[in-house]
Amino acid sequence: MKELDLNSGALAPVAAEIELDDLPVIGSIPQGLAGTLIRNGPNPLNGLFEGSGVLSWWPEAAMLHATRLNGATGSTSYRNRWVRTHNWAIHNNAANPDQFPATNPNVNLINHAGELLALAEGGAPVATNIELASLGPARHHSGLANAVTAHPKVDPRTGELMSFRANWEAPFLSYNVHSKTGEALHSTAIDVPAPAMMHDMAITTTHSVFLDLNVAYDFSLFAKGYRIPICWQNSRTARLGIIPRTGDDSETLWITIEPCFIQHVINAYNHDADTIVLDVMRYSHYLQLDESGSGFQPDPLATPWRYTINLQSGTAQETQLHALNMELPRINEIFTGLPYRYTYAVEQPSNEEMRGICKLDVTNGNITRFELPRGDQNSEPVFVADSKGHDEDSGWVITCVYREKTHTTDVVILDAKNIAAKPLATIPLPCRIPAGFHGIWVAA
Ligand SMILES: [Fe+2]
Repeated sequence: MKELDLNSGALAPVAAEIELDDLPVIGSIPQGLAGTLIRNGPNPLNGLFEGSGVLSWWPEAAMLHATRLNGATGSTSYRNRWVRTHNWAIHNNAANPDQFPATNPNVNLINHAGELLALAEGGAPVATNIELASLGPARHHSGLANAVTAHPKVDPRTGELMSFRANWEAPFLSYNVHSKTGEALHSTAIDVPAPAMMHDMAITTTHSVFLDLNVAYDFSLFAKGYRIPICWQNSRTARLGIIPRTGDDSETLWITIEPCFIQHVINAYNHDADTIVLDVMRYSHYLQLDESGSGFQPDPLATPWRYTINLQSGTAQETQLHALNMELPRINEIFTGLPYRYTYAVEQPSNEEMRGICKLDVTNGNITRFELPRGDQNSEPVFVADSKGHDEDSGWVITCVYREKTHTTDVVILDAKNIAAKPLATIPLPCRIPAGFHGIWVAA
């Protein structure tokens, strides 16, 4: 595991909750773009990260950052808020801290069934809104009350929400389907031999795909001072679990693949009745303990891979889509679970950097890039479809760029058809949105 300086540069925490209006704009916000970019990530309540690796970065308190943009009126605003959790209430001497949810949804957000939820796989979601108010537990999704993956998937055709819960205790894996309006449609426990770190999942129009891979729990890491007890385990068999949309354990097809770890899925789809295509960001190793058993080896970086899964033979062909190191892939989510062409991802020129955005054409491996100078960094790119929507890449890519010189963040809007071109608009904030994890665009 790479040593990271968590308290300086793009990752550093911010100390205060602020609100800003009438932000300057370089260029112009596209006419049809109106909504709020909300980002989520860890921001320690006491203002400092302790430790230096990802296992010290991941568990800190959830802070949300909302940048509201309106191309038609030119109005802009920014605010940030910690999610009001039990730990936040204790730290801030709030009255009745036990009435605050004991969870830390610091990874992602989802907007489904009229409810905006902050998510992290370790606990229950917290409902929020574009003002970043903490509204308590999920109200429209009772089936998610315990815990849910930070990467559930919405079928754009049916509005159904597919999710899972990976747990330290049995059942180690549960699978859930909610309707377009949030009703629990299907819930089933899936039999896996031991708990694994499962961060993401995939859907097609007929199936869901689970990732049971080589990173799993090792509770002896607690005694070694780690707050999250996960590491690479050679003894595990890496498997893809393919379940029909509303299937159960007995219908789940497990396919053995080469040892690996997959943090994030790009997309999946049915190629034909017997073939599922699954595209992911794949690591050959991840969080592998060193010889002493108490430290970690440097992680290799992820590259995009394709698993072509044959449902009849129960095998998968594994192909690297591109050799470029990248992570945090996003797509035009109108194509979730469907044949698609483009992903937008963060480039990783080195272990210390998330610098640049690449647009990968998965049909031919062509890449175009939005490049940044050394020292600057950027967040995950979020794709926003424009109202024309005639092409998969009709729209914008929005990212938060950390500027080393000013130690501030620019919100940058790119033309998704040509991300290499000069940004359509840059909104330089006088403050910083820490690198964080994931974000969402909530249309006005
Ligand atoms: Fe993630």
